[in-house]
Amino acid sequence: MSYTFLRSAILVLLSSAGLCRGAGIITVDFLRGATGESVTFTTSVKPAAEPFLALTWSFNGTTNIITSAGADVVGQGYENRISLDKSTGSLVLRNLTEKDSGEYELIIIPQGAEQIQGTAKLEVLTKVSRPTIACPTENLIEGKTSVKLTCDADGSVSTRVWMKDGKPLVSGDRFSFHDGNRVLSISPVNRTDTGEFLCNVSNYFSFETARCRLQVYYGPDQPTIVQTPVGAELEESVSLSCSADSLPKATFFWKFRHMKFYGPFHYIHEMEERHLGMYTCTAHNAITGLEASEMHILRDSSTTISVSMSMMVCIVLTSVGLMLV
Ligand SMILES: *[C@@H]1O[C@H](CO)[C@@H](O)[C@H](O)[C@H]1NC(C)=O
Ligand SMILES: *[C@@H]1O[C@H](CO)[C@@H](O)[C@H](O)[C@H]1NC(C)=O
Ligand SMILES: *[C@@H]1O[C@H](CO)[C@@H](O)[C@H](O)[C@H]1NC(C)=O
Ligand SMILES: *[C@@H]1O[C@H](CO)[C@@H](O)[C@H](O)[C@H]1NC(C)=O
Repeated sequence: MSYTFLRSAILVLLSSAGLCRGAGIITVDFLRGATGESVTFTTSVKPAAEPFLALTWSFNGTTNIITSAGADVVGQGYENRISLDKSTGSLVLRNLTEKDSGEYELIIIPQGAEQIQGTAKLEVLTKVSRPTIACPTENLIEGKTSVKLTCDADGSVSTRVWMKDGKPLVSGDRFSFHDGNRVLSISPVNRTDTGEFLCNVSNYFSFETARCRLQVYYGPDQPTIVQTPVGAELEESVSLSCSADSLPKATFFWKFRHMKFYGPFHYIHEMEERHLGMYTCTAHNAITGLEASEMHILRDSSTTISVSMSMMVCIVLTSVGLMLV
């Protein structure tokens, strides 16, 4: 007996009994199942005293799962995978595959009562695997390098979220997402991107995370020069120190007239006239290849003060002179 035949037979039975299609209980359920596991389609049918005349479960409107009218006809691919409770019509479907996703319909013809019909939708999801992120291995340089992080996972990935520092990333000036969030593109990288990026993939049944650490090289930023003491006089010692934010740490050199001194500090034990003038500090980052410079003028603070003092005296005298006139 073919399924089509049975189905037609049931429909004939229905029409001859004068029952309208859709009479009886109609339930629409939404079920989820995981690949390899099982799902139960439970009906709200009370077990009948007499066995049903006929009962049929079908998939996607065309495929017979089981039709039971006296004898059972089990559809291909459902042998050993189903258990039917003939008193309620409830069906257990085992060893699910993604191909089982779709619509399920149950039609029951009871003895001397109206047809009972029910439908259910099933979604079968394969648990997601631990994702992998293709993490860049080259040196990342602020403002120069662009990176693409790709997060791949097997299974039915329903959601894919990128996170950094405990917060989900959103697209913006430098961040963009492609291929359903599979690819995170950062263009260009910034020092603020240094840290751990997380890619979370999940579906209803499972959740997995992958990590990728980025280190962004930057700088040197504009150096800062500090003179100690701020006001130094001739014959006193004075030191100049130069610093600049940089990753990796910058190396420094000083230029004064035609001389070059290496290192962040320049120390003068006893300041003389010949030490006075313009010093230039240059910071260099070996990975970014960038340099940044700053200037500083070393003065004799006693003359600086006396110059301003004499100017003041001048002004006072001029004012006094003006008043006298
Ligand atoms: C479950 O289904 C898979 C693929 O359809 C098959 O290889 C496997 O033997 C089945 N397992 C059981 C326990 O029926
Ligand atoms: C069953 O129907 C659903 C839509 O309801 C469709 O997505 C799915 O591919 C169909 N499955 C088969 C095996 O035909
Ligand atoms: C890095 O990001 C900060 C803050 O968003 C921004 O001010 C700065 O200009 C960026 N640096 C580069 C080199 O793009
Ligand atoms: C992503 O995964 C991490 C670690 O497993 C978790 O702390 C975080 O809350 C998850 N984020 C989202 C949006 O699911």
